[in-house]
Amino acid sequence: MPGDGARPDGGRLPPGIVYDEIDNYMDGLANRGDAALVTVEKQGLKGGWPIVGAAEGSLLHILARSLRAKRILELGTAIGYSGTWLARALVDGGELVTVEHDAETAALAQKNFEKAGVVSKVRILVGAADRIIRDLKGPFDFIFNDIDKAGYPAVLEPCIERLRIGGLLVTDNVLWNGDVARKVRSAETAAIRTYNERLAKDPRMIATIVPLRDGVSIASKVRD
Ligand SMILES: C[S@@+](CC[C@H](N)C(=O)[O-])C[C@H]1O[C@@H](n2cnc3c(N)ncnc32)[C@H](O)[C@@H]1O
Repeated sequence: MPGDGARPDGGRLPPGIVYDEIDNYMDGLANRGDAALVTVEKQGLKGGWPIVGAAEGSLLHILARSLRAKRILELGTAIGYSGTWLARALVDGGELVTVEHDAETAALAQKNFEKAGVVSKVRILVGAADRIIRDLKGPFDFIFNDIDKAGYPAVLEPCIERLRIGGLLVTDNVLWNGDVARKVRSAETAAIRTYNERLAKDPRMIATIVPLRDGVSIASKVRD
């Protein structure tokens, strides 16, 4: 779990969003996908990559599949774990565009997409998400935002603009270890709070937060 673990209540609150035993219970039941996904999950755990994990990966897959998504945009590729869950949810002929600012990390993702057999459906764009998104034309059916948290506010408006009506904007780490609801003043916490508040008030969107893992925001675009 991210965050500094400081608990202003003197320690009565659980350290994460939900009690560790509940987190572990849900993780134990989670569908882990096929062998390729299990391998990337292990690579992520071993290498300390901040991947979404199996329960959230399944959630992304379920949501994108339910929408019959044909165009998916992901901001924050890392080693391609969530991207593989998303690529596997695409309808035939669909495409995942995923953005990663670190070229070496993007190369690792490319290898993992090849091994998972989804590389023909995936386009990795290397660069900063807030710049790259300006050159991307919508509409997308589904957008998953998982970049650096301080960068969340800058990509919110471009994401909403590029989402089709009925499409979903899903965002990771929106509870930031619970710090968003406490008196924690880090730059990341402030940025996530701004993002959550703007999204909640936006008349084009209906948003809710699911307290899975580190908090997953799910927002549906209801009008332009
Ligand atoms: C939390 S990880 C993504 C994990 C991935 N979604 C998964 O679960 O498999 C964030 C990734 O986004 C990249 N990143 C962070 N900020 C970025 C930005 N502003 N633009 C592009 N990539 C960024 C990082 O290098 C890192 O690989």
